Amino acid sequence: MSRKPIIAGNWKMNKTAAEAREFIDAVKNSIPSNELVDTVVGSPALFLEGMKKGVKDTELQVAAQNCYWEDFGAFTGETSPAALEALGVDYVIIGHSERRDYFHETDEEINKKAHAIFKHNMTPILCCGESLETYEAGKTAEWIEGQITADLKGLSAEQVSNLVIAYEPIWAIGTGKSADANIADEICGVVRATVEKLYGKEVAEAVRIQYGGSVKPENVAEYMAKENVDGALVGGASLQADSFLALLDFVK
Ligand code: 13P
Repeated sequence: MSRKPIIAGNWKMNKTAAEAREFIDAVKNSIPSNELVDTVVGSPALFLEGMKKGVKDTELQVAAQNCYWEDFGAFTGETSPAALEALGVDYVIIGHSERRDYFHETDEEINKKAHAIFKHNMTPILCCGESLETYEAGKTAEWIEGQITADLKGLSAEQVSNLVIAYEPIWAIGTGKSADANIADEICGVVRATVEKLYGKEVAEAVRIQYGGSVKPENVAEYMAKENVDGALVGGASLQADSFLALLDFVK
C-alpha cells in the first residue's frame, strides 16, 4: 500500500501573529498538491484563527500543538478541542516530548486527548520517543511499544488507520544530532509492528508514521526514501519560509 507523505512543521512557542502571516504569505503559493503530499504547519493556538484564514484555498493544512480532552468548562488556560474544530483546525499534535517532560503529561492524558480529537473530527499527530538513557540501554523498542499501546487504548481500527504517529527520539530534538535514516526506519518499523499487534496488518499498513528530530532540507529525502518513514515532523527547519519549502523538494 502506498501511503501519502505528510510533512508537518512544529513551530513550538515561536513567532508573533504578524510573523505567522508573513510566513503563510511567503509559502502559500508554492506548496505541492495535496494529492502528492500533506503539508501542515503547527502554530501556537493564539493565531490558529488567522492561520486558517491565511491558508484558505491553498494546499496548506493547520495543526494545533496541544488541546485539552474536555469540550468546555473550568479549565483555566486550556484549549478546547471543540473550539479548535470550530476554527477548522485539521490536526492536533499530542504527546510531544516537551509536553511530556516539561508539563508532565502522561500516556493516560494523551490517550484522552486522542479520543477527544477524533470526536471533533480532527487528526491527532501522536508523538512518541525515548530518552538518550533508554536508547543507550538498548530499550527503545520496548519503550516505544509501551507508549503506543497506552496512547492508543480504546481507539477504533478506523481511527488508528487515519492517525499520524511521529517517532521523535528525545536525544535528536533540537540538538543537531539526528537518528540516521536507518535508525529512523527501524524504530518507525517498531511503531508499525506495535500497531499491527494491536490492530492487525491492514491498519498497520495504513497508519502514517513520521520521523522527527533535526530534520532539515539536506537530510529529508534520505528519511523519506525509507520504507517505514511516511513523513517528517520538523521544528527548527520549519520556521523560515525558504527552509520550509525546501523540505518539500523531495516530492518533485
Ligand atoms: P527539531 O526539528 O528542531 O529537532 O525539532 C523536532 C521536533 O521536536 C518537532 O516536533
